[in-house]
Formats: sequence, C-alpha cells, structure tokens
Amino acid sequence: MNFFDELVIPPSHNHVMLLKYMLTISLLLFIPYISMMLGATFISTHFSKKGKSEGNNLFHRFAKDIVEKLTITKSAELALGTIPALSTFFAYAQLLYTAKTISVGMLALAVVLFIVSFVFIYKYRNTFRLEGIMKAFKSISSPDALKTETDDVKEIKEFEEKNVAVNSTSGTVGKWLLLAASYIFAGTMALASSPDKWDTTGNVLQIIFSWQTLFSFMALISLAGIITGAAIMFYFFSWNGGVKHMDDEYAALVKSVAGKIALASGIMFPLMLMISYAYLPQVSQSPTVFYYMVVVLIVSLILGNFIYSMFKNSDAGSATVVFVLVFVLVTFNIIKDQLAFGNAIQQNTTEITKIAEEHEKEIKGKTMEGSGIDAQAIFNQKCSACHKFDQKLVGPPYNETVPKYNGDVQKLADFIFNPQKIDPAFPPMPNQGLKKKEANAMAKWLIDKVGKK
Ligand code: HEC
Repeated sequence: MNFFDELVIPPSHNHVMLLKYMLTISLLLFIPYISMMLGATFISTHFSKKGKSEGNNLFHRFAKDIVEKLTITKSAELALGTIPALSTFFAYAQLLYTAKTISVGMLALAVVLFIVSFVFIYKYRNTFRLEGIMKAFKSISSPDALKTETDDVKEIKEFEEKNVAVNSTSGTVGKWLLLAASYIFAGTMALASSPDKWDTTGNVLQIIFSWQTLFSFMALISLAGIITGAAIMFYFFSWNGGVKHMDDEYAALVKSVAGKIALASGIMFPLMLMISYAYLPQVSQSPTVFYYMVVVLIVSLILGNFIYSMFKNSDAGSATVVFVLVFVLVTFNIIKDQLAFGNAIQQNTTEITKIAEEHEKEIKGKTMEGSGIDAQAIFNQKCSACHKFDQKLVGPPYNETVPKYNGDVQKLADFIFNPQKIDPAFPPMPNQGLKKKEANAMAKWLIDKVGKK
C-alpha cells in the first residue's frame, strides 16, 4: 500500500468527517446506479438474444426499452457512475491511510472495471439507437430502392450486420465486466469493515473465494433486483406517463418480468442482510449499527408487501410509493454500512488524525506558530547572527543547548525574554528585547525543531 500512502496526505479530524459524508453521498448515487445498470443489462441482453432466436419482436422491444429507460446518457453516466466511483475510491484511500489492508488497491481495480464496463454498456445502448435510425430510414425510403443490389444498399446491409454483432458482444462483455466489478466491489467493502481480516487477506483470490464476499455480493445483487424491478415499474408505467404505445401483451410481459425479479430479490435481501451482518466482526458492531439494520429489515418487509400486492393485483398505481421506499431502504442500508465501516476504522482514524496533526504542526512550525507570530522570521532577524542549530557562532548551537530544557517551553521562554549568564565559555547573551509572547513562540519553535532531530 506504500504507493497509495505516498499519493494521499493524511486527513485531519474535520477532514475525516467530511470524507465520511462524501463517501455516503457518493455511494447513494453509485449503488442505485450500478444496480439499475446490472439489472438492465442482464435483462436486456437476455431478451435481446431470446428475441433474435425466437424472432419475437416483443422481446426485442423489451430489450431496447429497458436499456433506454434504465441506463442513461453519457453525461449522466459521468455524474452517477464514474465520478461517484472515483470519489468513493478517493475517500477510502484517505480513510484507510495507515491501514494495512489491500482494500484500497482492490477498490482501484473494481473502479477501473466499472468504468470499462460502462463504456461497453454505453456502446450496447447505442446499437439500439442506430437500429432505430436504420428502421426509420427504411420506412421513408422506397422498398424497391432497397431491393436492388447497389453499392449503397450493400453498405447499409453491412452496417446493419455489424451493428447486430456489436450489440451482442458489447452487451455480453459489458454485463460480465460489470458483474465482476460489483463482486470485487462488494468484497472490498466487506473487507474494509473487517479489520480482523486485514492481516490475513493478502491477495485478490482471497477476496474472491470468501464466504463474506459471496454474501455481501448476494446482498448487493438482491438489492439490485429490488431496485431494478421497482425502476421498471416506475419508468414504464408511472414516470412521465410511462412508455408510449404499450399494448396489453407487452405490458403483461413487462409486469411479469419486473414482478418476478422484485419478488425473488425482495425475499432474498432480508436474508442476505442478516447473514452479512453476522459476518461483521465485534469491533464493527455497535448498537447504532444494529438499530439501523433493524430499520432496514422493517423497511424491506414493508416494501416486500407493497411489491407483492402491486404484482398480485397487476396494479402499477403504487409504483411511485415502491420507488420511494426503495430509496429509503438504500439510504438506510448505506448509512448502516458506513457506520460499521466507521467503527472498523476507528483506531485507524485516531492514528491518521494524529499523523495529520503532526504534519500540520510541522508545516506551521516552519512559518507561523498558533499565536500568529512568525518564529522563523524572528530567528532570521534577531538570532541568526549569533546562532545556528548545528554550529557554534557567537552563541552556542541550539542543538546543544535547547535539549537541556527537556521540552519546558516556559523555562526556555524565560531565558529568551531575559537572558542570564550561563556558560563561562561564552560571553553573556544580550537581551533581544522580545515581547513575552514572542519569546514564548520562539521557545516553542526551538523545542519543536530541535526535538525532531
Ligand atoms: C549578539 C549575539 C546573540 C544574539 C543576537 C542572540 N544570542 Fe542567544 N546566545 C548568545 C550567547 C553568547 C549565548 C551564551 C550565553 C551563556 O551561555 O551565558 C546565547 C545562548 C542562547 C541560548 C542557550 C541558553 C542556555 O540555556 O544555554 C539560547 C536558547 C539562545 N541563546 C536563544 C537565542 C534566541 C532565540 C535569539 C534571538 C531572539 C538569540 N539567542 C539571539 C548570543 C546571542
């Protein structure tokens, strides 16, 4: 971890608070985003393939609608995907500054995988747009023109074929990369909250083949299922009047897919939640974490009820309520995880804030003392003619005389304020006419500096 230690400066106490808020906000954007991406790409590629092999247009349309509704444009991808991913990484790197864990390096790997997968998924999404443009183009050109084998027509056909190929490869690559990234992400987050495993977890494989990772991942996946199911209902039936031109058959397909996913995930989530809580080491648990876990559990049960009745009655009316509840669930769950993480790194944070304070002192000591008096400047003006730290000039070197004071700032300040005859080998030091405050600042500065050597 030395590489990252060099890159980041240790955060101070206020800075740590700020980082924790930043982390929570980043995750609040990032987790719903990747959840929808995961759900959308898996469902879409499944139906795209099925649509092609069975020649079913309904499936194909679902594949297209779902990526268009649930994955988003490039700029939104930056705001909800890449930037939160990077700031999550940044916050972890700082908070785990002195921690001996591979979590930070692993998180970097996950972030890279996420970003690459976003590119593929964006490409996948784009093939549907191109296909739409081609369709529109065909409908406005005369059918005869497309039948003749001119070079233009050939080129169009080649383009279409290529688009189909890009559709299936970019979709497949994108979804598996996204899944791999999510798996490592879940494992890393779990490891970061388990300081008892930091010493023994030394490589990627240990993260990959771990029950803790598996259950955290399952918790993430079931959350993703709930989010995706709710998002499908919300965007297809509620938001802005829903998707246009849906016939009954199509609406029934959408509802049944969303319903199955949301229900299965809604049952799995509370289970995974409790299992991954059981994996939390003692240090990360606290009554607050437990209460939040209970709240998440209760919200998930209420939500499960709503989801069940929504699909049983095939009624999309409560899609908005479900969507809001999902966000409440996600928020409490993230806060719970962050509280546990906060407990896990408590010792580490005390350590890093201490380092940060020393860092600060060093920087301040070089120029200003806390009092606003510039000790370095006074030294240059009034003392350097007779003193050096390591050499005898008119007066003795500080490195020899200051340690005698044993850190007693007051005693040294008294001397500087009103010098007494001390060493017969030297003439007496003339009074430099400093104010009490200045003498104090000088004494502190000297002790800080010499003490370091
Ligand atoms: C004109 C020369 C001169 C200047 C200017 C001067 N000093 Fe000194 N300083 C001396 C001499 C000579 C001694 C040795 C005095 C003795 O041992 O009796 C001394 C001794 C000291 C000691 C050692 C005291 C001890 O307990 O042995 C300190 C600390 C010190 N000076 C700090 C300062 C500071 C701080 C300044 C500037 C604000 C300063 N001096 C400016 C000549 C000077």
